Amino acid sequence: MTTIYDPDVKEEMVRKYFYSKIELYDRECIENDYPNIYHKYLNLPFTITRPDICYGSPAEAKITNLGDYRDPNIEKLHQELGIKTFIVEVVYTPPNSNLPIHSDLMHVDNHIKLNLSWGDSDKSATRWWMPKDITTPVLSTPINPDREDYDLIYKATTNSPCLINVGQLHDSYNPSDEGRWTLSFIPAHQNNNLIQWEEAMQIYKDYIYD
Ligand SMILES: [Fe+2]
Repeated sequence: MTTIYDPDVKEEMVRKYFYSKIELYDRECIENDYPNIYHKYLNLPFTITRPDICYGSPAEAKITNLGDYRDPNIEKLHQELGIKTFIVEVVYTPPNSNLPIHSDLMHVDNHIKLNLSWGDSDKSATRWWMPKDITTPVLSTPINPDREDYDLIYKATTNSPCLINVGQLHDSYNPSDEGRWTLSFIPAHQNNNLIQWEEAMQIYKDYIYD
C-alpha cells in the first residue's frame, strides 16, 4: 500500500479518531501470538536534543508540527541510511491521561516513526491495541474511549530512541503527574513514501538492539 503522508488527512484523523479497516496482516499477528512488529529500541551514537517546547506539564493534549526544525544528528543518520526526515512533530500527553487509540493514518498500515519521549519514564508508555472482534471491518467508526472493545497487545516505554509502528492501532499512556513529551521524526523514502516496519528493520538494522 502506498502511504504518502498528508498532514491534512492526519488532522482529520486526530479530530475524529477514525480508522478505516483491519487488514489481513493483523489477523496473522493474532495467529502468531503477536510477534513484535510494534517497537524496537535504537542504539544511536549521539544524543537527540530536547526541543524547548518539550518542557512543562500543561493540561491540554496537543500535536505540534515543528515545521523546518531538524536535529542535525538525525539528519546525518538519515542521509547515511539513504532516507530523509519528512516531518518532525511533538506529541504531548498530559499528566494522568491517555491519548485516544488511533492509527496515524486514516487506514491501518505498518509505517514507522523514530521517537524519543521525556516525562515519567518509568510509567508512561506507548501501547498497541487490537479490536476484540477483528472479523468486522470498521469504517469511519469512532474508537471506543473506554477501550473495552480492544485487547492490549504490546506496551513499551519510549524514553530512549526507538522505532515505533504508528500504522497499527496505538495510544499514549501517561499515568504519572508529569507531562509526557514525545519528539517524533517521521522518516520517508526520497519519493516521500513512508517507511514500513519490515523496511525499517533493514534500514536501521545496525542500530536496532531490541
Ligand atoms: Fe500516533
